[in-house]
Amino acid sequence: MRFSRTRPRPDSISPTAHYTGYVWARNGLGNGGLSTARGGWYYRLLQPAMALSRAFGGPVLEDFLLARHRVIDHLLSAAIEAGHIDGVLELASGMSPRGYEFSRSYGSAINYVETDLPDMAARKHEALDRIGSLGPNHRVEALDVLHGQGGDDLLALAEEFTSGKGLAVISEGLLNYLPTEALRTLWSRVFAVLRRFDTGLYLSDLHVAEDNRGPVDALGATLLGRFVGTGLHFHFTIPEEARKALSSTGFDPVELYLPSEFADRVLDTNRPAADRVRVISASTART
Ligand SMILES: C[S@@+](CC[C@H](N)C(=O)[O-])C[C@H]1O[C@@H](n2cnc3c(N)ncnc32)[C@H](O)[C@@H]1O
Repeated sequence: MRFSRTRPRPDSISPTAHYTGYVWARNGLGNGGLSTARGGWYYRLLQPAMALSRAFGGPVLEDFLLARHRVIDHLLSAAIEAGHIDGVLELASGMSPRGYEFSRSYGSAINYVETDLPDMAARKHEALDRIGSLGPNHRVEALDVLHGQGGDDLLALAEEFTSGKGLAVISEGLLNYLPTEALRTLWSRVFAVLRRFDTGLYLSDLHVAEDNRGPVDALGATLLGRFVGTGLHFHFTIPEEARKALSSTGFDPVELYLPSEFADRVLDTNRPAADRVRVISASTART
């Protein structure tokens, strides 16, 4: 299923990072220095539509954004604290505070590299530099996940993680903007990177059609797809299809969690619209 009228132009997705950046900051995530005036403007513009959507039981962006973000944080912290992961490569990180927060919490115990398209990466670099977060263990690099010679850019970046112990790759808020072929290429590249480490962990959110069925969902997806110009892609009807696609890429084990499965231990996962999204946790072992 696809809600779109035009071809992908990756940087047209970037405005959504201002929106999410504002949502993270207004909910106390990270340092307010990562939120932009443009994000606040988008947020206020969408508020009436979000209130209506909530009233009709439709999707509410803030609900599933917070749910997915906190579940990814939770799974990443657990893997770091269990001693499995000491490197994090975040794709399409936008104005997300995760790199800032994890670098503050774990210091030199982890190596955190966040990436995005060149303009967004430059903006993020400037913002992180201003709040004093950058250093040898926290860096920002430009990376277009759709380009590179067969994924060489991603592989080249992975070379920066020298411990070889455990790497987590995160792609939050990106997959549903990618056409199916690009999604599969990305998963293959991520797998090729992660299999080089003793432990590889891929964390991401993903919307599947089954969880986003109602008429208000369809309208919201169409409008968002048009706004970003790439369309919004529901590659899989049911989570089992996504699980199979990840397994056939080589990931094992693969989990597709509903945020509400964490309701007893992760904040915001019991919000009414939290379960519009799934959280992928897919692992690899060195081969
Ligand atoms: C919805 S935002 C999510 C940002 C952040 N992960 C978050 O959750 O707040 C989508 C991000 O994907 C980035 N993006 C879009 N296409 C990309 C591509 N081909 N390669 C890398 N990043 C891309 C955009 O620049 C934007 O920052």
